[in-house]
Amino acid sequence: MPDKAKITLDGKTYEYPVIVGTEGEKAIDISALRAETGYITLDNGYGNTGSCQSAITFIDGDKGILRYRGIPIEELAEKSFFIETAYLLMYGELPNSQDFDTFSERLNKSSLIHEEMMNIFAGYPKGAHPMAVLTSVVASLAAFYPVKDNLDPADEEVIIANLMSQIRTIAAVSYKKSIGEPVVYPSNKLKFVENFLNMMFASPVKDYQLDPDVVKALDMFFLLSADHEQNCSTSTVRMAGSSLANIYAVIGAGISALWGKLHGGANQEVIEMLEQIRDTRTSPAAFVDAIKNNKGKLMGFGHRVYKNFDPRAKIIKGLCHSLLKKPGLNDPMFDIALKLEEIALKDDYFLSRKLYPNVDFYSGLILKAAGFPVNMFTVLFAIGRVPGWLAHWREMRHDKNTRINRPRQVYQGPTQRAYVPIEKRK
Ligand code: SDX
Repeated sequence: MPDKAKITLDGKTYEYPVIVGTEGEKAIDISALRAETGYITLDNGYGNTGSCQSAITFIDGDKGILRYRGIPIEELAEKSFFIETAYLLMYGELPNSQDFDTFSERLNKSSLIHEEMMNIFAGYPKGAHPMAVLTSVVASLAAFYPVKDNLDPADEEVIIANLMSQIRTIAAVSYKKSIGEPVVYPSNKLKFVENFLNMMFASPVKDYQLDPDVVKALDMFFLLSADHEQNCSTSTVRMAGSSLANIYAVIGAGISALWGKLHGGANQEVIEMLEQIRDTRTSPAAFVDAIKNNKGKLMGFGHRVYKNFDPRAKIIKGLCHSLLKKPGLNDPMFDIALKLEEIALKDDYFLSRKLYPNVDFYSGLILKAAGFPVNMFTVLFAIGRVPGWLAHWREMRHDKNTRINRPRQVYQGPTQRAYVPIEKRK
């Protein structure tokens, strides 16, 4: 394997080190390129550019492999649960029982939000999108929980517990406020997911009956959403975090990026697409044809990295088969989704572009079956993704190579010209 890459520019040859990852990925370290040659690289959308070296998550897009700290996602989905996997992502190892209890204690201690924060929710108009509320309320945690400049590891642990626990509480409070019901406070007698479901769906006049299958399905959704290496929102967290911005504002930036319909917002788009097909009685085949003819997007399909099946989509599809069999949870939109997948995966338009179902294609069906309103789906994705964002934030802070992220550009604007007084302008 060459440990150097040679680049010849203007008749001169330069050599740059080749970095090889533990899974054999190869990168050319061009950190000295501009200083030595005056050239920069250009890579719209960063499809060929590594922003960092990371030990958290490995994806092989061609083989459909996803591993958190080396453990295959399929094994974690079968044997682990969200909070344990969150610990693995953040600290690099599965917790022993003592570490797990300490972590759980921290999460419980942080489950309440400052009571004065309840006033913030009153300021939002009815019908405000829950992601607009989540983004701003999470960032405003900085006003209620000041963060000192030089955080030590103990400070980091408090922040991590605060964010993991309070984003869940904020989501439930914003939902209750949006439907005009009294807030249900967290209970430390309940585990993380049960606690969230109870805050969402219990009320002073009726207890919420926890369905173990729904709890397991939501826990699995959070686990599968927990990290995905340098995706758009995680890269946003690293970008904002690299300036040493306040961690609550940094996670607020990550939530904002996740909201985009090409990213985490796709889970809401998929359900709305399935509802449109159902309500207009469009045949899935006709819908796919329209997508192809109009060069539209089959939401929940395609991925920048996976050019094969997204392993998370396969797991969630299996979850749909089991959960939606339960009485009262059957959903005809699942059949529509299955038909869309069957048609697309026989169609060269999708196969030639290596477009397969991604994590968002089936996940909305699980969330809908659990009783969540569609406009909360990306909020749920954010709750799942917080451990990944925080793991990358910690890794970046402890990486001696970290510097403020500041990409270059190729300027294509006007060359130098003089100011023209207004009376002389056309
Ligand atoms: C997530 O990065 C991550 O890891 C993200 C994520 C995570 O866990 O963090 O996995 C979560 O965001 C999953 C993706 C959810 N988004 C969607 O489902 C939205 C629909 N998908 C597309 O918008 C698209 O596939 C992206 C955004 C996911 C990827 O975009 P790329 O890599 O920039 O691909 P592209 O837009 O350049 O597409 C290449 C070709 C184009 O056709 P041509 O110009 O070659 O003719 O494929 C076509 C695109 O038009 N195409 C699609 C399509 N996605 C791409 N055509 C139809 N339906 C689609 N869904």
